[in-house]
Amino acid sequence: MKNIHLKILDFLKSERNFDYSGYHFAMLERRIQNRIIHLGSITPEAYFEYLQNNPGEPTLLIENFMINVSHFFRDPLSFELLARVIIPTIVASKLRSNEHSIRIWSAGCAYGEEAYSVAMLFNEYFGAEMVHFNLDFFATDFDSRAIEKAKQGTYNSTSMKEVKHGLLKKYFTEGDGSYTIIPDLKMSIQFSTYDLLHKNSYAPTESIFGDFDLVLCRNVLIYFNQEFQKLILNKLLKSLAPKGVIMLGESEVLGDSFREKLRQISKYAKIFEKK
Ligand SMILES: C[S@@+](CC[C@H](N)C(=O)[O-])C[C@H]1O[C@@H](n2cnc3c(N)ncnc32)[C@H](O)[C@@H]1O
Repeated sequence: MKNIHLKILDFLKSERNFDYSGYHFAMLERRIQNRIIHLGSITPEAYFEYLQNNPGEPTLLIENFMINVSHFFRDPLSFELLARVIIPTIVASKLRSNEHSIRIWSAGCAYGEEAYSVAMLFNEYFGAEMVHFNLDFFATDFDSRAIEKAKQGTYNSTSMKEVKHGLLKKYFTEGDGSYTIIPDLKMSIQFSTYDLLHKNSYAPTESIFGDFDLVLCRNVLIYFNQEFQKLILNKLLKSLAPKGVIMLGESEVLGDSFREKLRQISKYAKIFEKK
């Protein structure tokens, strides 16, 4: 007999077009189980019935699969390297070739903390010189709720633990226990939905052609099996400009087949340059 979890996932596929084939199956099983516990520890079979008879439940279950946890400057060492090495190198190379546009993509941006952290660092680096450069900054996630929240740019204190005092004062307005990104910084990023498993494109539509100087895809690959990790990495590689830089999450591993296409910039962080 077919595993009940598989039945549940097949149902989501036929009803909501949710393609689960690339995700780690054990992770999806765990998330289904969480949802079942949340509903009062009913049996998986009873949950399957419930799923089929409650129109809102498939959406809630899919949302439960998406782990949007993030915070500003997550993995501070990577952001330190970004500020001190990567940004200066990108800018120097742009100046040498007399180009004034820098293209960035935060892929799997969740609620936007990662993208805003990067935007703050570029702002800090340029200071008043920012006007001479055009930042084309795209941030995407396939979870539309997360993108709406990213556009609003309002966070609670748990997202803020790594934000330095000076940056907090400069780039946020404080409300009643909440912190909202200032309009200028919000406007510097184009948020949109994009599925990294989309078969016919290698970059978000809004960016038209990719050609990114910097791509961040952090703590996203961990949810996928090896075959799909490869698929996504190939897509990101295609979207990078020559000598473009890609940043992965600290626990993510680059498969051997990518070692000849990407050079690790620092042994302390998962930052790679396209060869
Ligand atoms: C843990 S968050 C990572 C957030 C941020 N990059 C960070 O490192 O803090 C993982 C994000 O990947 C997104 N995601 C999962 N599958 C995706 C897909 N197929 N296409 C685009 N985004 C996806 C989820 O919605 C979630 O917001």
